[in-house]
Amino acid sequence: MSIVVVGTQWGDEGKGKIVDYYGEKVDIVARYQGGNNAGHTVVINGETFKLHFLPSGILRGKFCILGNGMVIEPKALIEEIEMIKNRGIEPNIMISNRAHVILKKHLEEDAKDKKIGTTKRGIGPAYTDKIARRGIRIGDLLDEDYMKERLGSIAEEYITYGRMLSSYIGDTTTTINELIENGKSIMFEGAQGTYLDIDHGTYPYVTSSNTVSGGACTGTGVGPTKIDKVIGIVKAYTTRVGEGPFPTELNDSVGQKIRDNGREYGTTTGRPRRCGWFDAVLVRHACMINGVTSIAITKLDVLSGINPIKICTAYELNGEIIKHVPLTRDMYKCKPIYEELPGWDEDITNAKTLDDLPENARVYIEKIETLCKTNVELVSVGPGREQTIVI
Ligand code: GDP
Ligand code: IMO
Ligand code: MG
Repeated sequence: MSIVVVGTQWGDEGKGKIVDYYGEKVDIVARYQGGNNAGHTVVINGETFKLHFLPSGILRGKFCILGNGMVIEPKALIEEIEMIKNRGIEPNIMISNRAHVILKKHLEEDAKDKKIGTTKRGIGPAYTDKIARRGIRIGDLLDEDYMKERLGSIAEEYITYGRMLSSYIGDTTTTINELIENGKSIMFEGAQGTYLDIDHGTYPYVTSSNTVSGGACTGTGVGPTKIDKVIGIVKAYTTRVGEGPFPTELNDSVGQKIRDNGREYGTTTGRPRRCGWFDAVLVRHACMINGVTSIAITKLDVLSGINPIKICTAYELNGEIIKHVPLTRDMYKCKPIYEELPGWDEDITNAKTLDDLPENARVYIEKIETLCKTNVELVSVGPGREQTIVI
């Protein structure tokens, strides 16, 4: 069984928590794109783990793969491995020799960004070198002569990182396919979200990789015929960090209440996240392009006490009603058309089944299902592992 877990909005949907939840049921967890621009939070028995490179399956002791589609800053990865070891977890990981290296110059270049609001982790510049066919790959770190030829005076530092990581570096593509052939189950952990995808997102306000489910194939070397299921992670409202259009954004006290209730501050950069109503136009489209087979709704508990709740069902663009996702410049002009639903006041963080939820919360879930034309299989009502309702 191969499952892709993918964000359907602008990232931070709660992918880490959901991957950890399903992580119990699979043998392998693999990241397929991005780098430490990702910040995935998992809360286990009240203890919080923030992961940037390592797949969230690491916390279940699963075999974890950092796929060829990733970009990796060796020093930051070594620090994250140390952090995990210090917390009593022995990392069982394999890093693709084909993943690209984030170099110091990439960090320096990214530090100059003023337009996109990047995470400043060197992601865009590293992918730029990859596409321009002048990048350095993780496997290259193990070839001292080649490193000296490519990096000159700074080669030593990277050769040292290579030595430190050498036991983890390998041909993940062959390994992963052999494991699948031997009947092992695998979960692909997406980073960022559909609207940060370089092709399908709100370009140019996006990240530099294919975040959508298709990226799981190119980013690990597993063919599309091997993917059985795609779970779309859907936050019960919308957030975004960084610049770019956001039709349902709330710049008022409701937006602030969502930010406070949901602790919407970036895991990687600490920036306050922009908050707004649920946008069914975006999520429906995301379900389509990712081939989502079922939805996991997260952070439903955050909406307790917000009344009424609005859902965007269409946009008005230049006097016309549209239900598709327009180009970025038009998206700035889109006025959301809302449907209002009654809220609920009850604390739902201890709910264990759908029946434990107030009627209006169940209606909200059904509304998302109908508007996105996809079944909901999981509802998360708190950051903890156990705060999960299976439908
Ligand atoms: P990711 O990048 O998609 O993995 O998401 P982040 O970890 O960046 O942000 C999600 C935040 O919400 C984290 O702090 C999680 O611990 C938290 N979280 C996840 N699911 C829930 C939920 O159902 N309710 C609440 N209140 N918090 C949640
Ligand atoms: P997770 O995996 C939310 C955003 C940045 C910026 C844009 C480009 O935790 O959901 P980059 O550094 O990638 O070049 O920045 O993308 N961004 C994210 N927003 N969650 C993330 O990851 C993000 N990773 C990048 O804020 O707008
Ligand atoms: Mg995050």
